[in-house]
Amino acid sequence: MKITIVGTGYVGLVTGATFSEIGHNVMCVDNDESKVKKLKRLEMPIYEEGLEDMVKRNVKAGRLSFSTSIKEGTEFATVIFIAVGTPPGYKGEANMSYVERVGREVAENMKSYRLLVEKSTVIVNTNQQLKRTMNKYLEDDIPFDVASNPEFLREGTAIKDAFHPDRIVVGVESPQGAKLLREIYEPIVTSSKCEYLEMNIASAELTKHAANSFLAMKISFINAVSRICEMTGADIKQVAHGIGLDERIGKSFLYAGVGYGGSCFPKDVDAFIRMGDEVGYSLNILKEVQKININQREHMMRKLQHELWVLEDKVIAVLGLAFKPGTDDVREAPSLYFIPQLLERKAKLKLWDPIAREKFDQIHPGLSYFKTPLECCKDADAVLILTEWPEVRNLDLKKLKDVLKVPIVIDGRNVFEPVEMEKRGFIYKCVGREPGKPIDKK
Ligand SMILES: NC(=O)c1ccc[n+]([C@@H]2O[C@H](COP(=O)([O-])OP(=O)(O)OC[C@H]3O[C@@H](n4cnc5c(N)ncnc54)[C@H](O)[C@@H]3O)[C@@H](O)[C@H]2O)c1
Repeated sequence: MKITIVGTGYVGLVTGATFSEIGHNVMCVDNDESKVKKLKRLEMPIYEEGLEDMVKRNVKAGRLSFSTSIKEGTEFATVIFIAVGTPPGYKGEANMSYVERVGREVAENMKSYRLLVEKSTVIVNTNQQLKRTMNKYLEDDIPFDVASNPEFLREGTAIKDAFHPDRIVVGVESPQGAKLLREIYEPIVTSSKCEYLEMNIASAELTKHAANSFLAMKISFINAVSRICEMTGADIKQVAHGIGLDERIGKSFLYAGVGYGGSCFPKDVDAFIRMGDEVGYSLNILKEVQKININQREHMMRKLQHELWVLEDKVIAVLGLAFKPGTDDVREAPSLYFIPQLLERKAKLKLWDPIAREKFDQIHPGLSYFKTPLECCKDADAVLILTEWPEVRNLDLKKLKDVLKVPIVIDGRNVFEPVEMEKRGFIYKCVGREPGKPIDKK
C-alpha cells in the first residue's frame, strides 16, 4: 500500500523504514530541508541501530522516498501518518501547532478521500480538533477520516520494537479507516503475533499518555524507595529484585538512578497533568512523580558537591550525555541538568559519549570531548556517570583507578558494586546502595 509519513524524526523515519521493509511504498515528508537532503544522500539524521541499512535497502528497492512537500505527500498516498513533534507548550501542555499545520496543509491539498493517522503523541480528543481544522481548510466536500495510532517504540531498540511490538493500538471510527490500518499492519501482526487493539479514537489517544505516565511513575516510585534505602541500610537493587519478581509488578522500569529523561516521559507526564487540570481532575499522583524526578537529580548533585566540597577548578569527567544508551538523543537528558550546573560552579568538564556528542554540542558548544571513557577520566578529580553505556559497564576498574587523580565515582546509574568499588579504593556513591553492608551468604 502507498503510505505517506509526515515528520521524519525518531518515530517517522523508523516507521517509514519499517513500513517499506514489510513491502509498502512509503514517502517520508519533512519540512526540515537539511534533514531531507541528508536522507536523499542516504545519510541518517539520527542514530538508531539497524536503521541505516534498512533505509538504504528500501530506497534502493524503490519502496522508500523523501520529500519536503506535503502537497506531494498528500497526492502520493491515501493514508497519511502524522509523526511530527508535540513538544511542551507555553505552560507544559502539549504544543499541537505542528499537528494542526499538517492537518491544514493536507486538507488544502487533497483531492479525494484521505485517512489522516495521528502517530504523534497527542492530547485526548485531538482528533476532534483535527477534524474541525480539516473541515475549515478543505476546498470541496471531500470525505476523510482521522484515526489514532500511538507509537510505543523505544529509542535504542526502535527497530526491534517496530517489528515485535507488545501491542498495536489503533483508534478508529469508520470501517474504511479500520480496514486500511489493518491492511498496513497485517504483516507485522502475523509475524510477531502481537495483539492488535481496535478502540475508539479518544481511548487510543489516552492510552499513550496513560502508558508513559505509568512508566514514569514506576521510575519515580523506585527512586523514592531508593532514598529510604539510603536512610536505612537497605539495598535498592535487592529490594527492586524482590518486588519485581511479583508478576503483578514486573521487573522492568525498577532501576533507581538520576531520574527519567528523554523526549517523551517528561513532556508526556506534563501534558497529561495539564489535560487533567483542564477537564477538572487533578492528577496529583503525577505531580509527585515529577517532583521526585527533579529531586533525584538535585540529590545526586549534592552527593558530588559533598565529595568534592568545592567544585571550582575541579576536573570532572562526565560519562554519558544521551538520555539512555543506544541513542544519540539528548532531549531532557540528565546531562542537560548537570552540565550547566557544573559549569556555573566553574568546574572543569571532560565529556564522553559514544554517539550523542554532536547533538550535545549543538546545545552546549565548545566543551571538551574525549574518545574513550578512560581518556576522559585521565587526571579527573571525580567521575560522574550519567548513561550506562556498555563501555562504562565494561570499564577496567584498575585502569580507571590508575588514571584518576582522585578516585571518586558518583554513579547515577548504579553500574558498579559498592562493596567491590570500596575494596578497590574508590570513593563510590551511587543510588540507594551503600557499601559496607554486604549480605553474608555463607
Ligand atoms: N522519540 C520517541 O521515542 C517517541 C516514541 C513514541 C512516540 N513519540 C512521539 O512521536 C512524535 C514525534 O517524535 P520524534 O521523537 O520522532 O520527534 P522528532 O523531533 O525527532 O521529529 C519530528 C519531525 O517532524 C518534522 N516536522 C515538524 N513539523 C512539520 C511539518 N509541518 N511538516 C513536515 N515535517 C514537520 C520535524 O522537522 C522533525 O524532523 C512526538 O509526538 C513524540 O512524543 C516519540
